[in-house]
Amino acid sequence: MDGFGIRIEGLRKRYGEGDTAVDALKEVNMTVAPGEVVGLIGPSGSGKTTLLKCLGAVIEPTAGRMTLGDEVIYDDGWKISDLKALRRDRIGFVFQAPYLIPFLDVTDNIALLPMLAGRPNGAARQRALELLEALDVGHRARAEPSQLSGGEQQRVAIARALANQPPVILADEPTAPLDSERALAVIRILNRMARQYDTAVIVVTHDEKIIPTFKRIYHIRDGTTHEEAGEGREV
Ligand SMILES: Nc1ncnc2c1ncn2[C@@H]1O[C@H](COP(=O)(O)OP(=O)(O)O)[C@@H](O)[C@H]1O
Ligand SMILES: [Mg+2]
Repeated sequence: MDGFGIRIEGLRKRYGEGDTAVDALKEVNMTVAPGEVVGLIGPSGSGKTTLLKCLGAVIEPTAGRMTLGDEVIYDDGWKISDLKALRRDRIGFVFQAPYLIPFLDVTDNIALLPMLAGRPNGAARQRALELLEALDVGHRARAEPSQLSGGEQQRVAIARALANQPPVILADEPTAPLDSERALAVIRILNRMARQYDTAVIVVTHDEKIIPTFKRIYHIRDGTTHEEAGEGREV
């Protein structure tokens, strides 16, 4: 990973074709440096989910370029051959709900993805324990998800997103169900983890509680992004 983080230029996404085609993304430009947390804000239907899916290699853009570090991922219809490996090994996802697996303990919830990526079980569990410690939930390592509070579960979900040490984390409304204090705690943790692991973090949100914390914000309206400075309030 070099100093670039994630960079997209002239990204476009069209769903369908002919009369029923929808141009969900028309002109999207964005850069997020390693260690940086940016906000992505826009009204319903503006293209946020489509953009997050393109960034996370869940769907492919119709045109435009995306690079991760110094590697080209998409370039005007061309794409790297193994998008599945990219998604699994280099992108961490955090959702509105934690989606932990109920019959695995907290440690195994985090270690599962690294094991699927081929890491030895011992190393994957060790890494899981380190992340749990870093997120102040180390004492819950052997618990089952249902025994944890909502805030603790969301921290475990963040640990899971970091498990493969991805250069990018995509968070879709990660604080929506949380009260003000817990929402800010999640943002504090994302900021700390971004710096500690040099991760580029993109947070889709319309949560007024956390918007003042971003130093940089991308607004998206009708499929087009506009960058602006945020307040960058300390949390
Ligand atoms: N699979 C799809 N097929 C056709 N149109 C879609 C699809 N997904 C989203 N859209 C359209 O693309 C536009 C952007 O949607 P979306 O990315 O979900 O916006 P947001 O997440 O900001 O609400 C909307 O007009 C939506 O109806
Ligand atoms: Mg959406």
